Amino acid sequence: MGAEHYPPPWFSVAPMMEWTNNHYRTLARLISKKAWLYTEMLAAETIVYQTGNLDRFLAYGPEQHPIVLQIGGNNLENLAKATQLATPYGYDEINFNCGCPSPRVVGHGCFGVCLMLDPKFVAEAMCVIAANTNVPVSVKCRIGLDGHDSYNELCDFIYKVSSQSPTRHFIIHSRKALLNGISPADNRKIPPLKYEYYYALLRDFPDLQFTINGGINSIDEVNAARMEGAHGVMLGRAAYSNPWRILGLVDSSVYGAPLHSITRRQVLEQYQVYGDSVVRMYGNKPNIRDVVKPLLGLFHGEPRNVVWKRKVDAALLHCTTIKSLLEETLGEIPERVLDAPITEVPSGSTDMFIKYYVL
Ligand SMILES: Cc1cc2nc3c(=O)[nH]c(=O)nc-3n(C[C@H](O)[C@H](O)[C@H](O)COP(=O)(O)O)c2cc1C
Repeated sequence: MGAEHYPPPWFSVAPMMEWTNNHYRTLARLISKKAWLYTEMLAAETIVYQTGNLDRFLAYGPEQHPIVLQIGGNNLENLAKATQLATPYGYDEINFNCGCPSPRVVGHGCFGVCLMLDPKFVAEAMCVIAANTNVPVSVKCRIGLDGHDSYNELCDFIYKVSSQSPTRHFIIHSRKALLNGISPADNRKIPPLKYEYYYALLRDFPDLQFTINGGINSIDEVNAARMEGAHGVMLGRAAYSNPWRILGLVDSSVYGAPLHSITRRQVLEQYQVYGDSVVRMYGNKPNIRDVVKPLLGLFHGEPRNVVWKRKVDAALLHCTTIKSLLEETLGEIPERVLDAPITEVPSGSTDMFIKYYVL
């Protein structure tokens, strides 16, 4: 099934290593039917050297569509082979990572965000990826790195990659990366967000598709970005730490579908069936803690959330199924919270992006 069969990527959940795995994506899809989901970044080498073990890295449930595979790498042969090996898994788009500042990644030759300094290579990589798949390809990048952070340099990168490869969709994490040894977490906080670069790209490359990313924390902000012209909006940390209030409103508030009537109790019942099937299949690997982890944001901001999370922590020491863990802990959450469907919250400010329109 190709991307054209799905709602447009107006809203997507960002690729996040060790976070947007199968467990989180299963939970996300129970709450939103329309959000586009990205995998964690998978290095091309991991795919190429694990050919006997591909399901572990590439398999996912059919309900997870639309789903995008993000790959990383700096070796054209491996990128080609990895794309070929991933193709039978039926991802809806292949995304190439040009934004990761992790020293583990940057240290392995030029990989992740430092590829932004070599747009010719990125264009070649995108040609190779596109030649080995029949689905669209996209690039996720920053607005620059270190001293290479002018708008002109960003335009040069976008121009060269888009004119020398079939790439038509760019996801712009709207801050630069600092490769001076600060941690990946600080690299998502310290460099300032410059949404004006993103909006200037919309103006200067009207034939391309751009998704905005970085520091967007609510559905009001998603809609504000779209009202200012953003083609798509990608959320990372907020969609992970507060899935109910973010993903629960995506289908209705972003895509205009009727408000979902599902409750968190029903989400948990369905997730428990998935989680216990994983635990039965793989035993302690992945262990229950990994399966439970995405649930920990489900009651974000609700009464007794902290008490519940502490109880989950204690229950993880002895529970062997998700069912028993939920039975032991859910008494902490008020019934009215468990049984309430998602509700629209009054709209807040929607002008946060207006000032960024003109660079
Ligand atoms: C734990 C974690 C892991 C991440 N892993 C990746 C990754 O594998 N690939 C990638 O392109 N970005 C990765 N990112 C960056 C996010 O995709 C996103 O660009 C960043 O968090 C900014 O968006 P946000 O402010 O909405 O969180 C990661 C972020 C986090 C928090």
